[in-house]
Amino acid sequence: MTENPYLTELQTTAKHLTQRGKGILAADESTGTIGKRLAILSLENTPETRRALREMLVCAPGNDEAYSGMILFQETLYQTDSSGKPFVSILKEKNILPGIKVDTGLKPVPESPGETTTDGLEDLSNRCASYYAQGARFAKWRAALRIDVNRGLPSDSVVHENARELATYAATAQSEGLLPIVEPEILIDGTHGQEVSAAVAERVISAVYDALREQNVPVELTLLKPMMIMPGVSSEERKNVTPDIVAVETLRVMKKVVPEQVPGIMFLSGGMSEEEATKNLNALNILAEKEKAPWSLSFSFGRALQHSAMKIWNGDKNNLEEAMQMASEVARANGRAQLGKFEG
Ligand code: 13P
Repeated sequence: MTENPYLTELQTTAKHLTQRGKGILAADESTGTIGKRLAILSLENTPETRRALREMLVCAPGNDEAYSGMILFQETLYQTDSSGKPFVSILKEKNILPGIKVDTGLKPVPESPGETTTDGLEDLSNRCASYYAQGARFAKWRAALRIDVNRGLPSDSVVHENARELATYAATAQSEGLLPIVEPEILIDGTHGQEVSAAVAERVISAVYDALREQNVPVELTLLKPMMIMPGVSSEERKNVTPDIVAVETLRVMKKVVPEQVPGIMFLSGGMSEEEATKNLNALNILAEKEKAPWSLSFSFGRALQHSAMKIWNGDKNNLEEAMQMASEVARANGRAQLGKFEG
């Protein structure tokens, strides 16, 4: 195998993104997804509204104390703040690495209603090269797996197809100088208990590392982005789940299936509230320290970093300063949780 010319840079990127006390903001919602969030505030989904929202998140003073990286949607990678300064330049000055969502969304599996694989492998290599040229240094690809115990979901074939796609993406991103975040999200929806979530996560994440191995992807140059191990959102068990319970089960599963060489596990928030996500991350880090977990455990939250700030902002520039303060406050709370020092 020829050596990857970006090897040293990929190692530096991994180190930067997994530094202590920091994590990643996922602000990479597609135009459709962000439209749903804007609709809650009765805001129109226009390029200018999206730009203004991302300006609030990118430019919030003090966010650099808690963010090592920010994942952007393609549109945002090429946008500027209201004075015309590229977001990428602003992030670089703050020492926040720009990342990019490179999948192009979920696609239904006709043979298995409710299940999906992910689009975006065509032309991926060219797109990665363009994003790198524009300043991106890491990438994200999201697979979504649905639990339905009665129907035996996720099905084996969909688990394996998603794992294969994630590995192909990871190899491509690495060869273009982008550190891949591998995201096999297990959706929170359902009435299943935590035990089922744990068993499915083991099956899904193991399949991902098998596929990465098969495609000779060095896992020390990847990051994992999973969901914490929780009962389904509509289950009875969910009402009584505590951060300590989530931490114990999440760490147990990760230890079983995530190779030690992986530098970081950057959790998604997947519909947890801001408070819940931060408290869970904090409990996880306290436990990880005790148990000497081999990887950095941090956040790559979307909603759990944006919700309160977006509500204050509400599309009005008169609210910008207050919204930015909230955005940074929530970010810093998660920075403390990465150290196991959040006192909520
Ligand atoms: P949430 O934290 O809102 O789940 O978003 C994270 C993400 O990037 C999902 O792909």
